[in-house]
Amino acid sequence: MASLELVRSRDVSVERAEPLVRINRVTMAFGSFTAVKDASLEVAEGEFLAIVGPTGCGKSTLLNAVAGLLAPTAGTVTVGGEPVTGPNRRVGYLFQQDALLPWKTARENVELGLLFRKAEKAAMRDESLRWLVKVGLKGFEDRYPHQLSGGQKKRVQMAQALIYNPEVILMDEPFSALDIHTRHLMQNELLRLWTEHRRSVVLITHDLEEAIALADRVVVLSAGPASSLVASFEVPLARPRNPAEIKLDPLFIELYREIWSRLRVEVEKSYAQRS
Ligand SMILES: Nc1ncnc2c1ncn2[C@@H]1O[C@H](COP(=O)(O)OP(=O)(O)OP(=O)(O)O)[C@@H](O)[C@H]1O
Ligand SMILES: [Mg+2]
Repeated sequence: MASLELVRSRDVSVERAEPLVRINRVTMAFGSFTAVKDASLEVAEGEFLAIVGPTGCGKSTLLNAVAGLLAPTAGTVTVGGEPVTGPNRRVGYLFQQDALLPWKTARENVELGLLFRKAEKAAMRDESLRWLVKVGLKGFEDRYPHQLSGGQKKRVQMAQALIYNPEVILMDEPFSALDIHTRHLMQNELLRLWTEHRRSVVLITHDLEEAIALADRVVVLSAGPASSLVASFEVPLARPRNPAEIKLDPLFIELYREIWSRLRVEVEKSYAQRS
């Protein structure tokens, strides 16, 4: 087992070798309200990064900047060295809210991820069916979203985002609405796909256990407004990991205690502002 000495909080602005994603001193403001201020973060190629922070602190806003859906008020975001100036195909995004088109079947929704390629209809169909099998939805291809369970809809979203092979996958609380067993199942699926494809993943979650169970590194976003990244923790737990069982590992428990002691400060600040 990895030694706990490997686990330490450090300044998140420390340079890493050629990061795939570079969030450089980004400020995100909505009119006079500053949601995120001067945040810097780098994500390495193939890294699985989790972001945790109190509700409303700016996690989705920051992810939207990486996806190119929101332009930073100040600072820059680059993916693969190129500035992000709008939505682009280097990035796959699983939205916090359900984002499937209700009038399209599972297969058609997955195909949407390929539309930009202008591939032949038959090739697109084959590819989307292949991805539906990969995410465990063989036989469900002709169902409409309202005929799918919450977990199945998330699988369709996952296939839709992964089918065009983005270099970085952004996931905004993808499993938070699922029951605990489905969540464990989906977490396992995600780890399996990640191991197979080794893309960079940025996962936002409220669930610190989920963050530690899945990620290589967990970063903490401070309470808003004007939040920024305040701590980064390496997760030296061996892989493959079973998210349902790893919580009993003594190293997991130590990590949880350490990260929670930092996160709790931000959560308490956030509560204090509201009361
Ligand atoms: N379009 C907008 N206009 C004005 N304020 C906004 C807008 N989008 C987000 N905000 C504000 O910015 C802050 C950060 O919002 P964001 O959705 O990024 O939080 P979050 O950390 O993702 O929260 P949650 O964990 O609840 O999803 C919040 O105070 C929110 O009200
Ligand atoms: Mg959010």
